[in-house]
Amino acid sequence: MDKLAVVTGNAHPELAKNICKYLKIKLSECLVGRFSEGEIRVKIEENIRGKDVFVIQPTCPPVNDNLMELLILCDALKRASAKRITAVMPYYGYARQDRKDQPRVPITAKLVANLISTAGAERVLTMDLHAGQIQGFFDIPLDHLFSVGVFVEYFEKLKLKDLVVVSPDVGGIKMARGYAKRLGAGLAIVDKRRISPEATEAVHILGDIEGKNIIIVDDLISTGSSLIEAVEILAKHGAKEIRAAVSHGVLCGSAIERIDKCKNLKELLISDSIPLDNSKKHPRIKVLSIAELLGEAIKRIHNEESVSSLFD
Ligand code: R5P
Repeated sequence: MDKLAVVTGNAHPELAKNICKYLKIKLSECLVGRFSEGEIRVKIEENIRGKDVFVIQPTCPPVNDNLMELLILCDALKRASAKRITAVMPYYGYARQDRKDQPRVPITAKLVANLISTAGAERVLTMDLHAGQIQGFFDIPLDHLFSVGVFVEYFEKLKLKDLVVVSPDVGGIKMARGYAKRLGAGLAIVDKRRISPEATEAVHILGDIEGKNIIIVDDLISTGSSLIEAVEILAKHGAKEIRAAVSHGVLCGSAIERIDKCKNLKELLISDSIPLDNSKKHPRIKVLSIAELLGEAIKRIHNEESVSSLFD
């Protein structure tokens, strides 16, 4: 492991430290600051020549700053003769614009993939992508992790009976099926319509949820609209206890106020792919760590072992 190095920008240093703790290595010294006009200033403070470097930098809000830090870090590492650079983005920002669903719109998920490769990253490690096909936007190897095991371990301890896993929209069925299979639960879907980037409407429920304990699963919670709409329609149709497991807690706008008002939501579990600052903490939000999952994947990539067998 002496050829392995982990560096971080300012997106999520705590996660980087926890990954290093799992790997039993020291986080590499690295300055990621700002020049007086606001430009990003990076300096790798130790010899990185010939190392297999993993840059831990989820592209969460502030998205543009975090993305730019990642690009500049990759450039600095490339010029410092790192042997290989892996961009570790447990949360991949700009993912939701992944196709031309209207005239004259960009495909930012592809643009960001191009930027990351151009900056010098030779591999990507990510988790619960908004859409699996984003993997194909990269022409470099990408390892795609799933947080389902982390959440399922928690739910198994609750020993919930009459369990139904619910996807808050049609796009999330695959993820919901994965949870349902592991938990031996039923499956249901909420038919969601998006009214605007910030607002959604839950129209129908497909599946039997009356009197059942519910786990809503999703890849991300942003404004909270999709989740809260799903909770309310499920409660209206007679669901019992309603919990949610969401991989990435973006939690922007009035998400926390919405969660606070939604008493039908018993518990929201998120991973620590994105740091949860104090303004986003809430007694019904619980954070489960993915540091070990990422650490183990990094170890296997470095040792050229199978990553997919992590999910067997
Ligand atoms: C949609 O396709 C996603 O999986 C999420 O359901 C959605 O992006 C969450 O956004 P919001 O919290 O703003 O409804």
